[in-house]
Amino acid sequence: MKILVLNGSPRREKSNTMRVTRAFLAGLTEGGGAEVELIHLSDCRITPCAGCLSCWGRTEGECVIKNDDIPLLKEKVLAADIIVECFPLYFFGMPGTVKVFTDRMLSMLCTYRGQVPVKGTPFHGIRPGVEGKKFVVISTCGYAQTDLVYDPLLAQLDIICGPGAYLPVLCPQGKTLCVPELTERIDRFLTKFTDAGRELRDTGTVSEQTLLSLRKPPFPQRTFQRLLEKFWDDEKKGVRGDV
Ligand SMILES: Cc1cc2nc3c(=O)[nH]c(=O)nc-3n(C[C@H](O)[C@H](O)[C@H](O)COP(=O)(O)O)c2cc1C
Repeated sequence: MKILVLNGSPRREKSNTMRVTRAFLAGLTEGGGAEVELIHLSDCRITPCAGCLSCWGRTEGECVIKNDDIPLLKEKVLAADIIVECFPLYFFGMPGTVKVFTDRMLSMLCTYRGQVPVKGTPFHGIRPGVEGKKFVVISTCGYAQTDLVYDPLLAQLDIICGPGAYLPVLCPQGKTLCVPELTERIDRFLTKFTDAGRELRDTGTVSEQTLLSLRKPPFPQRTFQRLLEKFWDDEKKGVRGDV
């Protein structure tokens, strides 16, 4: 089983989202037999889409831009059984790097021929060769809860992939995940992400019930607010080591 992890946080290994992703992968790869490749998108050369739509016309699924890392990334996506895309929530959507990467995957979608969008289905359809893969999206956000703040991202992913065609693993209160003093508490909190990874390994999916349970925050609102106050105080004093 080949697992391709595409990390869209510029904070790379220090990233809150990578912390959740590592917990999820621990369950998914338990028992061995999985080959995991981690790529930080911020390390890649990704030229923005030229907007020529050649990949939908004359080049039939091929992008005309060949001199960056997209051809290799596309090869890796095609070879993977499970694609884990992980990124922080930026302005209620995916970070720019991930959006530029997503734009360049246009060649994987079917050509738009005037079909009328139907709610609850992917608006385009995926070209042959990409179907059958599992697609997991792991994201952390700064807000206290995932309600409302993830609506724009989930709406976008539903339209692109189709609801149910990807597994949204969402985690609120991201700023608490890498605070050294909270390590033990957060390790306990993250075991449910490891369980979810194990569930994917054992059943081939993660149930709606599990996905919803992952969205419960690590701390109650009052505690979270106090932690945030301390975080910003430390930030001003320059004493934080996790930046
Ligand atoms: C440019 C920027 C925009 C952000 N926008 C949001 C947002 O819209 N909603 C939110 O809850 N958090 C937002 N955040 C907070 C991050 O999503 C949060 O801190 C996340 O856990 C960072 O993950 P990382 O350490 O993996 O990069 C934003 C952070 C940055 C730097």
